Amino acid sequence: SFYCTLHPNMRGTLVVTGEGGGVPAPPTFEQALRIPKVLTGRHITIPMKRAQVRVMPTGPKTWMWTYGGSFPGPTIKRPTGSLTTVTFVNDLPAKAGAMTVHQHGGHQSSADDGQPATYLIGHGARRTYTYPLRERGRPEPAAFRFYHDHRMDRTAENNWRGLQGMFLVTDEREKRLGLPHGAYDVPLHLTDRSFTADNQLTDPFPGGGMHAWMTGPQAPPNDATVGKRILVNGQFAPYLEVKPGQYRLRLLNASTFSAYDLTLSDGRPLTQIGTGTALLPRSVERDDVLLGPAQRADVVVDFSGLEGQDVILSTVPRTDTTEGTGSRSAAIMQFRVRGSARQHARVPDRLRAVPAIDVPQKVDKVWTFGLTKDSHGSFWSIDGRMFDPDRVDYRVRRGTTQLWRLRNTTTMTHYVHLHEEQWHTVSRNGKRPPPWERGLEDTWRLDPGEYVDVAATFTDHPGRFMVHCHMLDHEDHGMMAQFEVVG
Ligand code: C2O
Ligand code: CU
Repeated sequence: SFYCTLHPNMRGTLVVTGEGGGVPAPPTFEQALRIPKVLTGRHITIPMKRAQVRVMPTGPKTWMWTYGGSFPGPTIKRPTGSLTTVTFVNDLPAKAGAMTVHQHGGHQSSADDGQPATYLIGHGARRTYTYPLRERGRPEPAAFRFYHDHRMDRTAENNWRGLQGMFLVTDEREKRLGLPHGAYDVPLHLTDRSFTADNQLTDPFPGGGMHAWMTGPQAPPNDATVGKRILVNGQFAPYLEVKPGQYRLRLLNASTFSAYDLTLSDGRPLTQIGTGTALLPRSVERDDVLLGPAQRADVVVDFSGLEGQDVILSTVPRTDTTEGTGSRSAAIMQFRVRGSARQHARVPDRLRAVPAIDVPQKVDKVWTFGLTKDSHGSFWSIDGRMFDPDRVDYRVRRGTTQLWRLRNTTTMTHYVHLHEEQWHTVSRNGKRPPPWERGLEDTWRLDPGEYVDVAATFTDHPGRFMVHCHMLDHEDHGMMAQFEVVG
């Protein structure tokens, strides 16, 4: 295996990278929030290239590796059921190496899924991914997804440098619910980075990742890449001018490693209507929304009656959180409530029933997320093993419904992602899951000692798909496995 000499110090210690001199000053919200460009075509081409991005409000722009010259990349927005192709062209510097792109939350063939070690896009090459946006021939539910690099060993680095974009799947049935739309529907890509004095990204990956480290004299790579500044749509501390009406905010935690527990400054609730994978069956009022890496929440916030006021979106530390999830206190962005709203939006109590599923009587497969020790040291593992692209860890017969148990045996929280299917959360620690986990999911929080039972039917696509922790350092450092759909 590639990882046979993992360093004994790799134990998930939190290392906030770069930017010496302590915590940055509280933000002053100087720049207007950008909404990434939206691409709606049936055949989309996105060059991957190095580009300068306006991240900090003043001073030099930041050089990043981008999809299409912006960070985040363009938002792909497509009606469900409409076959979509996206061609990615690797125009990045040669030293960036080969890339692979995963549409997170999507249901696509194995070859189109962004495999970590095969079907790569070499320097100067291109690859077209086909997204049917269908399941069993029928349109999928509307969803808020994202696309990002998934290269084995280098996912943390490639994402840190900027290879991320949002992906919206819309449907007509959802439109009829009357939720806020148009300018009242705002995608917010949240992540964090650290910067040098001249606004360039720090390099938490000296030596070029796991391979270089394995074969050279470098220090072990960072195992907890946490940036000091939280960015929204690629900007530090932006503001958004809003009308005193209802806004649908699509919240995505696209960070490498950190969790954010999101709240509004005046204690205003967030009405959660979806997970990112699909709408919830019923809307649910929340005082705070905790999102780990790759988790999304579709929420509605009502700014009416707040004309002239400013509301701040913050992340607050949790008392029940565990070491290493990057919990912190920080103001993220500001909403300036101005003008007047002419709007006919509503949030129905009942949104969309979850499709019925026959949950198997007993668990088909337990996936254990652990820290494993061998004679070389400790490494992040699934079922006691490090990721090996040549090994299939579990086989599933196509057409069957499976009940899987995701179990965390470590002393820190992990955020576990399953590719390919959209899952029902059957239970959390043997109990009925909370209301915001009663929709469909693809990424779950697993606190130390927790287990979550999930069920899905494997349809359509044979081949290999990934299971992994979405804290990208953990993924790169072994906590990934693969299942194969056969027959
Ligand atoms: Cu968002 Cu396997 O990844
Ligand atoms: Cu993890």
